[in-house]
Amino acid sequence: MLTSLSSILTKAQRGRYAVGAFNINNLETLQAVMDAAQAERSPVIVQTSEGAIDYAGMDELAALVHLAAKRTSRPVVFHLDHGKNYDLVVRAIISGFYTSVMFDGSSLPYKENVRRTKKLVEMAHKKGISVEAELGLIAGKEDFVSVAEHEAAMTQPAQAADFIKQTGCDALAVAIGTRHGAFKMKTESTLDFERLKQIAEAVSVPLVLHGASGVPSRIKTLCTKYGCEIASAKGIPDIQIKKAVSLGICKVNIDTDLRIAFDAGIRKFLKEKPGVIDPREILKPAKALITQVARHKMKLFGSSGKA
Ligand code: G3H
Ligand code: 13P
Ligand code: ZN
Repeated sequence: MLTSLSSILTKAQRGRYAVGAFNINNLETLQAVMDAAQAERSPVIVQTSEGAIDYAGMDELAALVHLAAKRTSRPVVFHLDHGKNYDLVVRAIISGFYTSVMFDGSSLPYKENVRRTKKLVEMAHKKGISVEAELGLIAGKEDFVSVAEHEAAMTQPAQAADFIKQTGCDALAVAIGTRHGAFKMKTESTLDFERLKQIAEAVSVPLVLHGASGVPSRIKTLCTKYGCEIASAKGIPDIQIKKAVSLGICKVNIDTDLRIAFDAGIRKFLKEKPGVIDPREILKPAKALITQVARHKMKLFGSSGKA
């Protein structure tokens, strides 16, 4: 069944676990993620980015997610991920499809981020829709910043408290050193846990970790064995994700790891069975790998058995 982000994140915050937010662009990824939630008895957040909407259409993706949510007894949040375009976030709120939206005003001047987020919160709350906002720049394909700029762009705890007070948003995405995409880390660097601790002390809303994929070595090895050129990709180690959850992260965004699993499944199948042209056969192992990855995340975040 469909539910609001606030309701599942409030429970997660109380229970000191996090709920996975998985990006979907197509039916196969959605089904694979829903299979994982079913098997793990876990709540799940299914999210679509602006890119996903450009690719597949808002109405089309919403129809798929609503049907999947109707067919499961697990709580499902349908969330707009990284709405940078103000008008698109308004459209998502008005559509009635989403139970939660993210307005990503992180690249705007602070005052403008506050002003727009506040307006969208007022609009969304009238319809019972939750709002996630972002403060600080989460680097990667989202933003191109140097290491020094990256450090300066981390979320400031005092500013986070002011931001929540002024906007009334329901969840806050924080910049503590994660990056979007497969090439997050050059060395074994660690996230800024001290900063996370201070933010969690300064605000009471659930915190969100973007750019949290781990680039699991087993899937990366499989993918590269069959020709994918991501050998130097490095994600956030599981142990650091676990620590972030223990310090107050309640929603963890995963896209890249699902993409790598999808890619690995397809490449392996096509190499081993070059005579098969049926897309249903080709996509089956990719879906199974996505389910494996999503199940691992649900266990890691502590949401397994919570629904
Ligand atoms: O953070 C962004 C997500 O990974 C979505 O990526 O904009 O390519 O759909 P996308
Ligand atoms: P990854 O690229 O680490 O999977 O992050 C996804 C994300 O933050 C989506 O909003
Ligand atoms: Zn993100």
